[in-house]
Amino acid sequence: MKSALITGITGQDGSYLARDLIDKGYKIYGSLRRGSTPKLGRLSLLGIDAKIDFIPLEITEFSNVFNTVKNIKPDLIFNLAAQSFVEDSFKHPILTTEINYIGALNLLEAIKITGVKSKIYQASTSEMYGEVLSKPQNEKTPFNPRSPYAVSKAGAHYLISNYREAYGIEASTGILFNHESEIRGREFVTRKISYQLAEIINGRDIPIQLGNLDSVRDWGYAPDFVKAMYLIINHKPDDFVVSTNKTTKVRDFFKLCAVNAGLKPEFEGEGINEKCYDRISNKIICEVNQKYYRPSDVEYLQGDYSKINKELKWSPDTDIQTIAEKMVRFDLDVLAGKINNFGI
Ligand code: GDD
Repeated sequence: MKSALITGITGQDGSYLARDLIDKGYKIYGSLRRGSTPKLGRLSLLGIDAKIDFIPLEITEFSNVFNTVKNIKPDLIFNLAAQSFVEDSFKHPILTTEINYIGALNLLEAIKITGVKSKIYQASTSEMYGEVLSKPQNEKTPFNPRSPYAVSKAGAHYLISNYREAYGIEASTGILFNHESEIRGREFVTRKISYQLAEIINGRDIPIQLGNLDSVRDWGYAPDFVKAMYLIINHKPDDFVVSTNKTTKVRDFFKLCAVNAGLKPEFEGEGINEKCYDRISNKIICEVNQKYYRPSDVEYLQGDYSKINKELKWSPDTDIQTIAEKMVRFDLDVLAGKINNFGI
C-alpha cells in the first residue's frame, strides 16, 4: 500500500488532501504538533479522522523529523505545516521562520541523509510575489516578499530547488494563490466575512471590522487546489503556479457574501471612514478598522496558471460566486444548528 505523510494535516488543505488520498487508496500519516491539543474538527467534519495514523511531530526539531522520515519511509511527503497567517508573522517573525523555513529544511535534510526515496511537495505561496513586479504572476515572475511569512516561504521555495539540483531529491512546489472553502480558518478574510455575516443574520448588532478593502486577490476553491498538489508531486520535479487568473477586491467579496445572505449591501465613504449599510434594515454591517491593516500589505495578486494547465491538464472548477455562495450557506446552516461544524 502506498503511503503519504502530510504535515499540517489538521488545516484546510491537509484535510481535503487527506480525503482525496484516502479515496485513492493511500495510507495516511498525519503529523500533529507535540504538546498541542489536536484540532481534528476539519477531519471529523469530512469523516476521515478515524482513517488517519496520527504521529506526534515537531517539525522544527531535526532529530524528530529525521526519525519520522526514517521510520515511515513514506512514498509521498506533503509539507503543509506552516504558520500561515500573514498578519501574525509580523508579531511572531522568528516562530514563523522556524516553522516555515527550518521545518522545510529539516524535511529535506532528513530525506537527503536517510536516502529514502520519498517525493516531497512544498506548499509555496503567491505571497512570495509581494509587491508584484508584473501582472499576472507566473513561475518566472521574480519574488518581492512583503512580510516575514512571505520571506520564510520564499526561502523554503529556494531550498526545494537547491536540494533538487544539488542532490537529485524529487522535490516540487505548488505556488498556490489564495484558496478558500467552508472549512477555512476564521482569521482569514473570506471566512471572517462569511461567518460574521451569518452572525449578523442571526441578530448580531456589531458591524464586521475589516482592514484593507481595496486589496485584490485571485481566490480559488481549496478542494480544486489540493487536486493540483497530487498532480504536481507525481510529475517530474518542478514548480507550478496554481490559481484562477480572476481577481476580486475584498470589498466585492464582501458584497457577494452579503447578497447571498439575503442583504442589500451598499458601501459609503472612503478610507478609514468607509462603511457598508444593509439597505433593507439600514443598519451598518461593516466598518473599516485600522487594527486590521498590515504594516505592509500585498495589494494585488493574479496568477497565470497556464503552465499547470498545459503540462498537467489542471484547471480550477469553482468560480468566486460559487465559493461565496457555498461559504455563506455553510455558515448560515452552522448557526441554524443544521450542521455540526466541530468548532471550525
Ligand atoms: N485576515 C484579514 N482580516 N484580512 C483582511 C482583513 C481582515 O479583517 N481586512 C482586509 N484584509 C485583507 C488583507 O490585508 C489581505 O490583503 C487580504 O485581505 C487577504 O487576507 P487573508 O485572507 O488573511 O489572506 P492572505 O492573502 O494574507 O494570505 C493567505 O493566502 C496566501 C496565498 O497568497 C494565507 O492563506 C496564506 O497562508 C497564503 O500563503
